Amino acid sequence: MKKNFIILFKFIILFNFFIFPTKSDPMFELGKNIFLNKAVCSACHVLADAGSNGQIGPNLNEIRPDKNRILNAVKNGIGVMPMYEGELTPEEIEAVVHYVFTSANN
Ligand code: HEC
Repeated sequence: MKKNFIILFKFIILFNFFIFPTKSDPMFELGKNIFLNKAVCSACHVLADAGSNGQIGPNLNEIRPDKNRILNAVKNGIGVMPMYEGELTPEEIEAVVHYVFTSANN
């Protein structure tokens, strides 16, 4: 009986992962919050997952940047995009890079 319960429990966790792969990823959620609220990347970029519609920078779903490209843009800035090094903590930069990479390449 107890064993069945454990198997059921594992199944629920696995199933949840399958259906909502991003919901159980705290770094993804943190990155999304930074994208929308703290760094407001959303003001300049289209990203479907964030529901953002900014037209100043490139559409992130179209350019599908790799991690290095995102990290470089966020840390150092590019063109009129401001640099975020010093503005965001290294953990926040890591989270927003993870978020953009994961959601733009899905
Ligand atoms: C003030 C508007 C603005 C904000 C805010 C902004 N960006 Fe950008 N971003 C741009 C522009 C403009 C470009 C294109 C720059 C160029 O190529 O000259 C760009 C380029 C990029 C690129 C592509 C870089 C490349 O190598 O082509 C990525 C990835 C990116 N931004 C991610 C982000 C993220 C993540 C944030 C938030 C932390 C953010 N941007 C905030 C305007 C912005």
